[in-house]
Amino acid sequence: MMKGFLTTLLLVVARLASAHYTFPSFIVNGTVSSDWQYVRTTANHWTTGPVTDINSDAMHCYELDSTSASQAGIAIVAAGSTVGFKASNIMGHQGYFAAYESCKPSCQFKQCWFKIWEWAPTFTPGVGLHFDSEGIQQFTFTIPKNTPNGQYLLRGEQIALHVAYDVGGARFYIGCAQINVVGGGNGIPSPTVSFPGAYSATDPGILFSEYLVGYSFEMGLLDLHSFEDIYPPMSPDFPGYKAPGPAIWSG
Ligand SMILES: *[C@@H]1O[C@H](CO)[C@@H](O)[C@H](O)[C@H]1NC(C)=O
Repeated sequence: MMKGFLTTLLLVVARLASAHYTFPSFIVNGTVSSDWQYVRTTANHWTTGPVTDINSDAMHCYELDSTSASQAGIAIVAAGSTVGFKASNIMGHQGYFAAYESCKPSCQFKQCWFKIWEWAPTFTPGVGLHFDSEGIQQFTFTIPKNTPNGQYLLRGEQIALHVAYDVGGARFYIGCAQINVVGGGNGIPSPTVSFPGAYSATDPGILFSEYLVGYSFEMGLLDLHSFEDIYPPMSPDFPGYKAPGPAIWSG
């Protein structure tokens, strides 16, 4: 029984682990840019693997090297308009999506990032977690209308949670577009955080052992009680997914 369960688990994990991705295309004015036209070329542009070290400099924009900034263009973006990222392929890992802006492109490693959007899994007691974002290839969101005019980095991120039940298990897919916001306002973005630094390996939305229980409900493949033998069961007072990082600045 246990052996069969473990085999099933390994097959599921192997299937999930086979599909990595990058965010090479920026979506602006309803148009999908060409690869790396506005997005800084990432270190995984060939391997497509995620960042796994939450404290590494790769958590910034996962840049390939110091030329990544100058190789990419700067997209003019109207405040209040819809922008987004298109991934290199279907995003097969379930996870949490977020977008951040930095106040200036030159602010690397300083506390200057503010969150403008997120897409978290939902939780229904008695049913489990649901990932509405599962299986998408692109995600879009709005640049807050009151964003002050000027140049920004726009950081799209997915925190894949499929192996997040261990410390260091969360998988970070990251891409940063270079933008120049026009038609903006006089907002004062807050709160601000740094990358790396915004997240800790033990944040509840990053070290996430409830995932597997939710997954077993979703797929109907696996017996909940089998999981309870190995992983802690979802506690009766589980409050739902707690997003990591700062509150959203909506402008
Ligand atoms: C998006 O549209 C605005 C006009 O609304 C234009 O100024 C800007 O250049 C366009 N951006 C891109 C990247 O095409």
